[in-house]
Parts: sequence; structure tokens; C-alpha cells
Amino acid sequence: MEASGQADIPEGLKRELVKQAARKETLTQEYGELLDRFDGVLEIGCGHGHWLTAYAMENPTTPCIGIDIHGARIHKACTKADKRRLKHLHFIKAEAGEFLEILPKSAQLQKVIILFPDPWPKKRHYKNRLIQHPFLSQVANFMAEHGKLYFRTDHENYFAWSTEIITGHPSWIIDNPTEWPMENTTFFQDLMSSYQSLSATVKK
Ligand SMILES: C[S@@+](CC[C@H](N)C(=O)[O-])C[C@H]1O[C@@H](n2cnc3c(N)ncnc32)[C@H](O)[C@@H]1O
Repeated sequence: MEASGQADIPEGLKRELVKQAARKETLTQEYGELLDRFDGVLEIGCGHGHWLTAYAMENPTTPCIGIDIHGARIHKACTKADKRRLKHLHFIKAEAGEFLEILPKSAQLQKVIILFPDPWPKKRHYKNRLIQHPFLSQVANFMAEHGKLYFRTDHENYFAWSTEIITGHPSWIIDNPTEWPMENTTFFQDLMSSYQSLSATVKK
């Protein structure tokens, strides 16, 4: 017999929760050891991995992980890392929230990079945007002292939205002037005529 709370959950959601738990278990099994001692740079929504591959080449002693929900993009990114024999660079197929949920407490993020995330331009879809108060809290938990978040978008409303949420978040302070770890184009940056960037430092 099911506990009364469980019985109230719609069947579709129950199936999704089961799948989500299985994905997180797989991530933990495959990458637990790597993540346990991780102290480096995380790119969320890395796409084909252009930016992080260039960064890893310039920073051969910095562990780098790029994640993306899209398997084919991660496949391309992994090919880039393999061709260049970058042993400190890893690309992982994962959804950002699920990845942060399985990240061990021992992991330390020096930099978190978010470049041209999906803007979800319609108001009713804003809830799908990556930059949200709970997401920033989750990321802040893993940041090293003085760790930084770097965000770039071509979408004016998303930039204003993110600036407002980060400004109002107790764990982050927006840098003025903006700092940037390395200029290198991305697949989406190449398509855009203009964009805006911000950096923020975690408060610890
Ligand atoms: C507009 S693309 C930008 C890709 C890359 N940063 C660039 O500038 O070329 C956004 C990327 O974020 C990924 N993405 C969207 N939501 C995600 C999530 N919740 N977790 C991980 N990746 C996500 C998409 O699959 C896509 O590759």
C-alpha cells in the first residue's frame, strides 16, 4: 500500500521522479570519484564546448567540467577534449539542477560560467530560466572563497532579470567593473550581433 502523500502525486510526475532518480544515480556512479575531489571551473550549458576547451588549453592545471543536457552537444565537446588530449577537461551530459544535487559537498567551484543560456523569452516561461534565486543558492553552496559566477547573454530582458535576481541574492555581489576570465567565442556568440556580460563574487 502507498503512503498517502505518494498516492496524491500524478502518475506522470511519479514516472518523471523515478527517471530523475535513475539519472542522478548514474551520474553519481560514473562521475562520483571525479566530482569528489573536484576543485575548478564548471561551465553550465556548455553546448559544443568551444569556450571551455579553449579555457582548458590556456589553463592546463585547472580541472574543468562542462555540462549540458543535450547529448549530441556533449558528444561533440568530448571529441574536442579527446583530440587535444586534455585530461583535465571533462564534458558530462547532465541537467544543471540534477548535477548540482549529486555534487558532493567536498567539491569546490572556483568559477561557474554560463554563456548564452536559453532565454525563455515568453513571460509564462520565465520559470524555466536557469538564473533563479534557488539555483543561485545551490551554486553558492559549492563556491570556493572568492569564487565567481560569469554570465553572458544577448537577450536584454534576461540580462535585466538576472542582474535583479543576483543583486537581491544575499550570497552574491555583482562585480563593478565586470571581470571576465577569458575572451573566446562560443557557437551562439558567433550568431549574435551584441550581448551583455556580468560577473559576481560569492559572499562567504
Ligand atoms: C543557447 S545554448 C548556448 C550554448 C553555449 N553556451 C554557446 O554559447 O554556444 C544553451 C545550452 O544550454 C543547454 N541547457 C539548457 N538547459 C539546460 C539545463 N537545465 N542544464 C544543462 N544544460 C542546459 C542547452 O542544451 C544548450 O546547449
